[in-house]
Amino acid sequence: MDSPNRQTEAARFYHDVTKHSYTSVRSVGHRLDWDNRPFPFKIYPQAAALALPRQLDLSSTPALEAISGGAEISAATPLDLERLTRILFCAAGLTRKRKVGTEYYHFRAAASAGALYPVEVYLAGGSGADGLEPVLYHFSPADLKLRGLRRGDWRGAIAAACATRPSIAQARAVLILSGIFWRSAWKYQARSYRYCFWDAGTMLANLIAAANAEGLAADIVVDFVDAEIERLIGVDGEREGPLCLVALDRTEIETPSNPEPAPLELDTVPLSNQERSYPDLIAMHRASKLIDAAEVRSIAAWAAEEGGGVWSNLQVLGLGETIVRRGSTRKFAREPIPAEELAALLTASSGHPRCDFPPLTDTYLIVNAVTGLTPGAYSYSRASRSLELLKAGDFRGNAGYLCLEQPLGADCSALICYMADFDRTLSLMGSRGYRAAQLEAGLHGGRAYLAAYSMERGATGLTFYDDDTVEFFSPRAAGNIPLLMVAIGVPA
Ligand SMILES: Cc1cc2nc3c(=O)[nH]c(=O)nc-3n(C[C@H](O)[C@H](O)[C@H](O)COP(=O)(O)O)c2cc1C
Repeated sequence: MDSPNRQTEAARFYHDVTKHSYTSVRSVGHRLDWDNRPFPFKIYPQAAALALPRQLDLSSTPALEAISGGAEISAATPLDLERLTRILFCAAGLTRKRKVGTEYYHFRAAASAGALYPVEVYLAGGSGADGLEPVLYHFSPADLKLRGLRRGDWRGAIAAACATRPSIAQARAVLILSGIFWRSAWKYQARSYRYCFWDAGTMLANLIAAANAEGLAADIVVDFVDAEIERLIGVDGEREGPLCLVALDRTEIETPSNPEPAPLELDTVPLSNQERSYPDLIAMHRASKLIDAAEVRSIAAWAAEEGGGVWSNLQVLGLGETIVRRGSTRKFAREPIPAEELAALLTASSGHPRCDFPPLTDTYLIVNAVTGLTPGAYSYSRASRSLELLKAGDFRGNAGYLCLEQPLGADCSALICYMADFDRTLSLMGSRGYRAAQLEAGLHGGRAYLAAYSMERGATGLTFYDDDTVEFFSPRAAGNIPLLMVAIGVPA
């Protein structure tokens, strides 16, 4: 079978047709159909439930330490049910609710564009995870339960789909993050494919920090044979598709070899009266599928880089408190933050995670008000942990304009913009690189959120005008595509 992944025209086409511009946002004419709003929870009415412990003693490890990967990974840490629940809760748990009219809206531990929560979490553990039966589970944040989808320890099947990558083959448990596209497409249409990866990224930021705070290693894997993971979790790869995997903990235990999983015949509650599919979104997802283990091996030949490093001696909140307090800032006071805080945030949030793809993103900033820094446009070097001034000036107006004319960009202290060199990304990984770059931006952005809240500052993710953003940061950013913006500052 021909690999679609190397025909990268599809990724370029998708990116072009889903760009926002001043004209496009005024001419699209998309109305939100509130009566058809997708339900944000996946419910399996027939599946048996395992209630998770509700008394969660969340980690008090200083948040910057956990985010940056500085917490000590201990080989002796067992993955018991309490630990696992804390990790799942920090990744996807419900943290707040708000009544709008007669309805309650639930907010979660990680930020999600439009609070639409398209990302589901599945768990394959086995005899190695204490207190867990060998069953493939779906995590239900609504009632803090795991629901059994199929019996057996399926880590072998997952390892095979990842071409037997050691982090997966030796994982004590594997989490599968999967996107239900309609949930986000209801609002963001075909562009929502990008948002699904950003949201998976913010979830990863929380998940990995929580795992690290428990002393557990967490490795991200983006390269797998799509069809095999789809079959295992019983999704069609068009309405819902696996986005990435996380291997929790490394052990010496052998994964079992598994037979091909039988089709999963479990009903789920419909999301809304009618679902609409977006051909450009589906085409992009198909174009970045990997078709066999040989293809997985061929594109994932990079050594994983360790995250981590030094941050600063700032007093920050513990990780658990940070996650529970986090919520997107709706208005910033036009006040400065100290340069030391921005430096700590960039250091803690920018390390490349343990994963199977190379660093793909670059970090640019518009500094509006940071004490000790000239206002202007900057590029950030992760290697030297330094900022390079690209142009000095008061760019509050530009910052507000670039993020779709939202005052949040103009009022924040600093607007971070993650970008990627498109040619390099596609030549390294094919269209799969488009997925990985969006995910990496979401992860860095999610960590930036946590770092800001740990210092009792505010943050919000933001979308943007694509071409205008590149032009603003050019010539340095020529050939780049913008991936995600995150505004940091003092909440009003
Ligand atoms: C990838 C991403 C993009 C976002 N884009 C915007 C945006 O353009 N404007 C905005 O006001 N909020 C934006 N947000 C914030 C979300 O609306 C917010 O996370 C969601 O409503 C959930 O609320 P919470 O973060 O307070 O828990 C974004 C969040 C994420 C993760």
